[in-house]
Amino acid sequence: MSDVAESRHLVLVGLMGAGKTTVGAACAARLGRPFVDTDDVVEANIGTSVAEVFATEGESRFRELERQAVADACATPAPAVIACGGGAVVDPENRRRLRRAGFVVWLQAPPATLMDRVGTGTERPLLHGGSTATLERLAVVRASAYEAVADALVDTDGRAVDEVIDAVLEVYEP
Ligand code: S3P
Repeated sequence: MSDVAESRHLVLVGLMGAGKTTVGAACAARLGRPFVDTDDVVEANIGTSVAEVFATEGESRFRELERQAVADACATPAPAVIACGGGAVVDPENRRRLRRAGFVVWLQAPPATLMDRVGTGTERPLLHGGSTATLERLAVVRASAYEAVADALVDTDGRAVDEVIDAVLEVYEP
């Protein structure tokens, strides 16, 4: 099966807390398209949670599963809205695949805002319960990967979800 759909997927990237899942699901509803979240694909493929994979098999195993999930998501035959786990774009193969199959929008916000949004839940293993410093570090380390993959950037700071959805759909070029 080709991984290039007849119209490009809308792909959302950005750090944890950027709003990829919330905004992505709403964009999919507005466009009348399927919504695919790569973390959900990982979980469906292996029958356990992302946090559990990190805990039992480590991050590198998660990244392997995530690479497959990105490939599966890009291979969705109908144009879809795809929300990528925050670290997926660090992998050059994922970046190539996403750029080929989709129009990529980078959702941005400062680390303190991201931290407010993600809270202290345990479902994000890289945050170990929550630290703005970790998000600041990831923002620096990953900036070049987000820049390299993104076709457009949407600032989400201080904006209501509906405004962000409008902004994403405005920049999207199918
Ligand atoms: C990660 C982000 C998470 C999830 C995993 C690793 C990351 O997804 O893929 O915990 O490396 O930034 P969200 O960005 O949807 O929280």
